[in-house]
Amino acid sequence: MTSPHSDSTSHSVNIDLGDRSYGIVIGTDLLGDAASYAALPRATSAVIVTNPTVAGLYGDRLTQALKAHYLSVHTVVLPDGESYKNWESLNLIFDALLGHQCDRNTVLFALGGGVIGDMTGFAAASYMRGVPFVQVPTTLLAQVDSSVGGKTAINHPMGKNMIGAFYQPQRVLCDLDVLKTLPERELSAGLAEIIKYGPIADVAFMEWLEANLDALLARDPVALAFAVRRSCEIKAWVVGQDERESGVRAILNFGHTFGHAIEAGMGYGAWLHGEAVGCGMVMAARLSAALGLVDQAFVERLAQLVQRARLPLVAPVLDEQDNVGRYLALMRVDKKAEGGAIKFVLIDPIGRASVRSAPDALVADVINASCHG
Ligand code: NAD
Ligand code: GLY
Repeated sequence: MTSPHSDSTSHSVNIDLGDRSYGIVIGTDLLGDAASYAALPRATSAVIVTNPTVAGLYGDRLTQALKAHYLSVHTVVLPDGESYKNWESLNLIFDALLGHQCDRNTVLFALGGGVIGDMTGFAAASYMRGVPFVQVPTTLLAQVDSSVGGKTAINHPMGKNMIGAFYQPQRVLCDLDVLKTLPERELSAGLAEIIKYGPIADVAFMEWLEANLDALLARDPVALAFAVRRSCEIKAWVVGQDERESGVRAILNFGHTFGHAIEAGMGYGAWLHGEAVGCGMVMAARLSAALGLVDQAFVERLAQLVQRARLPLVAPVLDEQDNVGRYLALMRVDKKAEGGAIKFVLIDPIGRASVRSAPDALVADVINASCHG
């Protein structure tokens, strides 16, 4: 790595998974450019899954473009938000597919952020035991993380992303222009997942982010294009080694053990996923330091980056009576937990990560320190 040698906004990244390999196309005005649609899956019908916010902004453009490739193009509009990432919304997709008599010759298009992407992917994995799908991610978070790698899921009230499948898309179209309409808070949430890649895999990328965070906050297209590309490259490298998370892929969950507890404990949607991950990464860095794996200077460096990205640093109190107990109980439902033992992605050293357990007393210290600033 790692410097954007060109001032290009146009990149492509390949996810190498044998016969399930696919391309990620990154650029401006992809939705409006006929060339973007050249390598789509062949089918007779296309069904766009989206939400009212994104449908209003980009639904027509995608529909018009897809009409040149498919005999019929239908749209399913799901309610907007993390709190709707559930069975009821998933069923609305199946209702529409069956209502339109969609057969196996159907391709689904996920037009939206990670919530739409994860649900559409799960629907594609299970409708008639599997139909192809394409990701058209419209949030920064979805472009740098959730649209890539084939994790699909819905939430359960007792745990985040607990019901799902590994199922790869056949193409990912990251149109940087759609990020112009993204609310500030959502932009910051996406930055959290970008920041994640530095400590776990690429120190030089962390340095690049420190130098270019203001350009990203200002939505400079060249900086955004490079950040999306480098994030996808790192994710592709990890997923290419361990598609189904039997090992190294777990490092992509840096910050997520604490973060998922925050999301579930606060009620899905109260904290954005990226906000919880940002705060959770600093908590995981504190735990890494408490175990002697990194020094305090790294914790402060990461905290500064998270704060500059306008993400929260103070963790929420989840239970006034027994806050530590509540965090521990929620973290035991994490998918990395084994036999009730909580596992954390810890930095060891900067630029590498490993998955470990830690003594409850140290975890409690981190929770107490993080909840009180
Ligand atoms: P989101 O999908 O809820 O989108 C955030 C908000 O932005 C929504 O209100 C949406 O309507 C709006 N929006 C989307 N695109 C817009 C645009 N271009 N302009 C204006 N508004 C727009 O949230 P998210 O942060 O994209 O995704 C979070 C979800 O992703 C979580 O459920 C998380 O678990 C999941 N996730 C999955 C993976 C994975 O590997 N599958 C990885 C990371 C996160
Ligand atoms: N976002 C974590 C993963 O894709 O594995």
